[in-house]
Amino acid sequence: MKKNGVQSRWSLAVTLHLLLAAIVHQGFATVAPPTAAPTTTAAPHKDPSNPEKGNYVVNGKNDTACLLAAIGVQLNVSFSSVSQNQTVQEVVNIQPSATNSSGSCDTDSASLRLMTTDVQKTNLTFNFTLNTTSNKYYLSEVALSAAWPDMKDPVSVRNTSLDYLRGSLGYSYMCRDKQTLFVSKDFSMNIFQVQVQPFGLTGNQFGAAEECQLDEDDMLIPIIVGAALAGLVLIVLLAYLIGRKRSHAGYQTI
Ligand SMILES: *[C@@H]1O[C@H](CO)[C@@H](O)[C@H](O)[C@H]1NC(C)=O
Ligand SMILES: *[C@@H]1O[C@H](CO)[C@@H](O)[C@H](O)[C@H]1NC(C)=O
Ligand SMILES: *[C@@H]1O[C@H](CO)[C@@H](O)[C@H](O)[C@H]1NC(C)=O
Ligand SMILES: *[C@@H]1O[C@H](CO)[C@@H](O)[C@H](O)[C@H]1NC(C)=O
Ligand SMILES: *[C@@H]1O[C@H](CO)[C@@H](O)[C@H](O)[C@H]1NC(C)=O
Ligand SMILES: *[C@@H]1O[C@H](CO)[C@@H](O)[C@H](O)[C@H]1NC(C)=O
Ligand SMILES: *[C@@H]1O[C@H](CO)[C@@H](O)[C@H](O)[C@H]1NC(C)=O
Ligand SMILES: *[C@@H]1O[C@H](CO)[C@@H](O)[C@H](O)[C@H]1NC(C)=O
Repeated sequence: MKKNGVQSRWSLAVTLHLLLAAIVHQGFATVAPPTAAPTTTAAPHKDPSNPEKGNYVVNGKNDTACLLAAIGVQLNVSFSSVSQNQTVQEVVNIQPSATNSSGSCDTDSASLRLMTTDVQKTNLTFNFTLNTTSNKYYLSEVALSAAWPDMKDPVSVRNTSLDYLRGSLGYSYMCRDKQTLFVSKDFSMNIFQVQVQPFGLTGNQFGAAEECQLDEDDMLIPIIVGAALAGLVLIVLLAYLIGRKRSHAGYQTI
């Protein structure tokens, strides 16, 4: 009967070992870089790294902030290139240190305007609308005008029927994950680590954050993995306890 106890302990060790191996393997699977494949096919264009986050403030009539935005912006613009004599897709980050912001606020509309002062001259306008019936705000309009050195003609794009970054009056909209905002067939925008509040600010500060759906979905994965691991640990523990009880009972009968 002693053998039984040893066996159950041994099987516990094996289970733990396998569990550990699975976790470690999982870790390596996500961390390990792909085995060095020769880079024969060059990418059509280089994608820059994630954009730096800029902090932009628009002041209202009484010199207090009426719109706050913390946001990393990456532009994805298609235009006719001089150097390549064809239409190209270029991805350019807005550099906060080379960007001037301005804007205005009204009761049911607010706008933020970013103007870059580097060689890739860009004006980017975000217009927010407040629905005073539902007390929800949203990004309703984006306008881009760009005059970059390689552009055959300046690009000017405007879409006034957007519905992005929805939030409630008095709260800020927040999203940690990258979001792609489609504006037109020639222009989309990737935004990163967004927190904006275009209405209902008090004391130059963001109100409580309403987190976007993407972030909530992200949270779900660790929760599921955590629950699964907790379940496994419980099973192993139960197996161990049952095994111990059995071997204990064994001793008594002898
Ligand atoms: C500033 O103006 C806004 C509306 O325009 C108002 O809600 C706020 O209370 C004012 N703040 C001060 C300090 O007067
Ligand atoms: C830029 O836009 C093109 C076309 O819409 C898309 O294929 C590409 O993945 C985008 N690039 C980035 C970095 O978002
Ligand atoms: C640019 O391409 C067009 C056709 O796509 C061609 O007619 C023209 O000659 C090209 N120009 C240069 C400078 O290569
Ligand atoms: C941007 O802002 C800085 C500082 O306020 C100012 O000196 C500069 O002239 C502005 N640039 C443009 C293009 O307006
Ligand atoms: C404002 O919200 C209400 C209620 O959700 C909706 O019925 C109305 O169409 C909205 N108004 C505008 C201009 O979007
Ligand atoms: C929205 O942005 C445009 C620039 O495209 C500007 O002319 C317009 O005044 C803005 N509207 C509001 C309501 O702020
Ligand atoms: C951006 O706006 C400024 C001021 O309105 C203007 O002088 C400049 O030409 C604009 N730049 C582009 C690229 O449209
Ligand atoms: C403006 O954006 C909406 C929503 O993404 C899209 O359905 C519409 O086609 C866009 N309009 C233009 C002119 O690109």
